[in-house]
Amino acid sequence: MPVKMGIIGYGGMAGWHHEHSAETPGLEVVAAYDIDPARIAKAQEKGLKGYDSLRQFLADDSFELVLVATPNDAHCRLVLDALDAGKHVVCEKPVTLTLRDIDRMIETAQKNDRIFTVHQNRRWDKDFRIARDVLASETLGNVYSIQSRLHGSGGAMHGWRGEKKHGGGMLFDWGVHFIDQAYTMCGWDAFTSVRCRTANVKTTEVDDYFHLQFDRKDGGEYVVEIGTFVLKELPRWMLLGDQGTAYINGFARSGGVITLDNAIEDEPVIVMTSAGPTRTFAPRPDGVKTERELPDPDCHWTDYYKNVIATIEGREELIVKPEQVRRVLATILAAFRSAKTQKQIKL
Ligand SMILES: NC(=O)c1ccc[n+]([C@@H]2O[C@H](COP(=O)([O-])OP(=O)(O)OC[C@H]3O[C@@H](n4cnc5c(N)ncnc54)[C@H](O)[C@@H]3O)[C@@H](O)[C@H]2O)c1
Repeated sequence: MPVKMGIIGYGGMAGWHHEHSAETPGLEVVAAYDIDPARIAKAQEKGLKGYDSLRQFLADDSFELVLVATPNDAHCRLVLDALDAGKHVVCEKPVTLTLRDIDRMIETAQKNDRIFTVHQNRRWDKDFRIARDVLASETLGNVYSIQSRLHGSGGAMHGWRGEKKHGGGMLFDWGVHFIDQAYTMCGWDAFTSVRCRTANVKTTEVDDYFHLQFDRKDGGEYVVEIGTFVLKELPRWMLLGDQGTAYINGFARSGGVITLDNAIEDEPVIVMTSAGPTRTFAPRPDGVKTERELPDPDCHWTDYYKNVIATIEGREELIVKPEQVRRVLATILAAFRSAKTQKQIKL
């Protein structure tokens, strides 16, 4: 029997969930509730039972799992109501906007003995898995700088994402994914402090650029930078190690792992360059560097739901745990404090 799911907020992302549910064995979307009649009509057109009443939607016992995919500020109340109605809940990211809210969500899930998790689907992104595998391979030696970056040129936060009251801004929108990836890659107690700068490049009310730096316990750094108005993008990932460098372009398997061939590594010599004579910045001669292909991990976004289903059926432990989601939220809030005070915040 498939796990059946009802969706609250049948907007853009809910459509994505609905479409991809077809690729997830054991999951079937059957109903949707929205405050917008046009979105209810859309859900009905796509074969779902459409509800304009939350009470009636939650009383429908044909589904045991609820996805909350509304704007961010509406998540908490809807998650609490769904849990109290006896449903398991997947909430879209960012889970909510305050620690008080997430604590209520966790407590309510425990009280009702229901599964509660957040759609941190970017743990299954190809580029992230590649970066994690390269780091774990130790090919680069001591990786003193991990740089996770996303540059776009759209230039602004659109619709409700541009409004503070709805939990808009880049730190909440994409920062939540990349901070979650940072902890998943390095460990949940890997960072000692965070420093963050935000900017309003094209959006007045909320951040549309941020540069965040974690200090790692092992002495290294982990940088997350997201810019919405950058007309020449840098690689999505740079991993700088004392034995080599890895770079990944965009979200695909594009880039390489570059190391020096020890057998022919010589003392660098002074070279005349356009910047003048230099030894440190002299280009390495041909044949000294070896560039290898990136690893090719097997990962799919549908793996997220496979784990949710297996957890509901008691076969697996939840991968995206509520306490991890809380840690990410606490870090975002610390990053906002850092941006406001221009100080480093201990974690
Ligand atoms: N995980 C990801 O990769 C990813 C990607 C995009 C969006 N999201 C998240 O998904 C959520 C929705 O984003 P979106 O882009 O689909 O937004 P959207 O504006 O396209 O859709 C939101 C829907 O929620 C409905 N809605 C608003 N308030 C409601 C309420 N109180 N009760 C019921 N329905 C309500 C709206 O009518 C609309 O249909 C956000 O939390 C966003 O951050 C996640």
